Amino acid sequence: MMSSFAKRQKEEKPMVSVILPTYNEAGNIKITISLLSEMLNDERIKGEIIVVDDDSPDGTADIVRNLATEYDVRVHLRKDQRGLATAVLKGIELAKGEICVVMDADLSHPVSKIPDMISPIIQGDCEAAVGCRWVPGGGCINWPLTRKIVSKGAGLLARGLTRLSDPTSGFMAVRNDVLDGIEFYPVGWKIVLEILVKTNCRFIEVPIMFSDRHEGESKLNLRVLIDYLRHLWKLYCFKYIKCFQFIKFCLVGISGFLIDTLVLVSLVELMYIDPRVAAIFGFLAAVSYNYILNRLWTFHLPSIAKPYYSYASFVLICLLGLMIRIGVMHLLIEYAGMGTDLWYVFASFLGIVAGTIFNFIGSKYVAFSENLFRNERRL
Ligand code: GDD
Ligand code: MN
Repeated sequence: MMSSFAKRQKEEKPMVSVILPTYNEAGNIKITISLLSEMLNDERIKGEIIVVDDDSPDGTADIVRNLATEYDVRVHLRKDQRGLATAVLKGIELAKGEICVVMDADLSHPVSKIPDMISPIIQGDCEAAVGCRWVPGGGCINWPLTRKIVSKGAGLLARGLTRLSDPTSGFMAVRNDVLDGIEFYPVGWKIVLEILVKTNCRFIEVPIMFSDRHEGESKLNLRVLIDYLRHLWKLYCFKYIKCFQFIKFCLVGISGFLIDTLVLVSLVELMYIDPRVAAIFGFLAAVSYNYILNRLWTFHLPSIAKPYYSYASFVLICLLGLMIRIGVMHLLIEYAGMGTDLWYVFASFLGIVAGTIFNFIGSKYVAFSENLFRNERRL
């Protein structure tokens, strides 16, 4: 079915904003802008070019300002910030177009591929298109083997995040509206990866030949590679947040069991309290301890709007979890013959698994529901 975006685009061609992050691109920027303008004219695409420059000492920004009389280009100068990904985000923020194209300003990314990237977006087949080197028809011209290895290795590390064949690509076209309301916190360079993971949008891969930069030097260095690893870690945490939370929840549960036992033994041995009564105190101590740890560590929710409601619902969920555990055990013993030998231990274990899953879901969506917390901080 055709999306409303696609329907609208059938009548009028959408405007395209091309974003060029620059740092010391004096030798490349003029030719990049003229090639882009030529392509936009030839393809009859309404477009604008936005250069986001981080106060390059080589005067890139001045060159762009002078070009503004000839081409539809503007420059945004950043004096207090540096970084490729944040520069691109700034460009996206300033963009008027319905589609944003992000590319390098050193002629490494072929301008001629832009129409192939934006037309499936206009047709509504996808929300993004990425220029990829490591697909049939794509590749790198004049690249040393070491750089190929680094690039492919870096791509491999991102395999758990995206199906994209070239996750370190910096060449993308994306529908502007899919970026609305999404919080981006890229560390370093990989804005394309950040956008794909955070929006989970549909994308296509367009093969490109990546040529070595026309003039000047690459700004890729060890720092950029370290930032990439930090960025990957953040994206994995984002994508698999529920898995991480579940693991933490289980660890908290195990330590809670130790607290429970400690309180039980202390009360029985030191205060001669009946073990069944002591177990109630053990349970309450463990539940309170679990509550605090889960709030602060598992779900990262330091500030709270309805503390009593949250705590009480957590206690209730734990009690219901206990009932589920016993219920599952009962069913397994009664109907699956797990009452003999040591099978009851296995039945109890399965009961614990069921109870823990229930506790986790209840905790995440009721006791620690985001609506209950103000200024909550997520991973
Ligand atoms: N505003 C701004 N600020 N722009 C920057 C900065 C910065 O701190 N650092 C780099 N740029 C700009 C450059 O001027 C260029 O237009 C583009 O970002 C890419 O930088 P290069 O220094 O040319 O990087 P590269 O060619 O080594 O890496 C490119 O290809 C890689 C593929 O292997 C980038 O596209 C990478 O994202 C990509 O992974
Ligand atoms: Mn480059």
